[in-house]
Order: sequence, then C-alpha cells, then structure tokens
Amino acid sequence: MDKQKLMEAALEARNHAYTPYSHFQVGAALLTKAGRIYQGCNIENAAYTPTVCAERNAFFKALYEGERAFAAIAVAGGPEGECRDYAPPCGVCRQVMMEFCDPRTFRIFLVKSPDEYREYTLEELLPMGFGPGNLKEREKQT
Ligand code: THU
Repeated sequence: MDKQKLMEAALEARNHAYTPYSHFQVGAALLTKAGRIYQGCNIENAAYTPTVCAERNAFFKALYEGERAFAAIAVAGGPEGECRDYAPPCGVCRQVMMEFCDPRTFRIFLVKSPDEYREYTLEELLPMGFGPGNLKEREKQT
C-alpha cells in the first residue's frame, strides 16, 4: 500500500469541498484492494441535513463504479487552511464503512500531512458494529 500517495490524495480532495456554511473542509481518499483510489469531499447544503461527508462521497463514487473490495481510507479535515487536528469520521460514515468493509482489516488513516497521520482499524473506531453479518446470523436461526 502506497500510504504516502493515499494521504496526499486525501489532502488534495479537501480543495474540492463545498463548505459555505461550516468552512470545515474534509477530503477523503478510499483505496480499493485492487489499488485504485477514489477521492471524495464534503458537500454542504443550505438546508443543512442534505450535507454529505467526504468519506461517504468517496464510497458512493466507488460503489457506483462497481467497486466492492476496500483496503483503507485516508481522511483529512479541518477549518479552511492547514489541517491542524485530526478529523475522525462521523458515526454515519463509520456505519457505511461497516456495510462494505471487514472491520478487523479495513484501515482508517487520519491525516494532518503526508507524514503526520494516525492509523486505526474500523473495529477500533466502531467497536461491536452492526453489519451485514448480523443479519446473516439471523437468517441462519430462522
Ligand atoms: N464532515 C465530513 O465530511 N466527514 C466527517 O466524518 C465529519 C464531518 C463534514 C460535514 C460538514 O460539511 C462539515 O464536516 C462540518 O460538520
């Protein structure tokens, strides 16, 4: 995995953010198991709730293209300008990851700069998450 390239792609994606309300720009770079990167940014809305996060934007772009196997996502976020703090994915984005990724192996990188980042598994950020496997268990019982 070219981590450096993934971090840079997340930082670059921030430049595409549409954030006239929060001025909090988030960029995400989603890496498929085959090595392709899909970028996403947050896109806000005057009605607020239709806002989409950078992570989900990247996932939905990739899913539309038929991708189903994901290795990692890098996320860079902060007020306009440099990323001074880490921006962890919101709960809704973690749940979307849970739908398509193995929580034990899927990596989440929180990025400040290409060489300043933290690395987690999805399981660490969403312990005991509810996913497709839970429904399969139910089907087995009935
Ligand atoms: N945001 C993301 O893009 N990803 C997250 O996981 C957290 C929040 C965006 C949504 C909104 O545009 C802005 O950050 C402030 O909440």
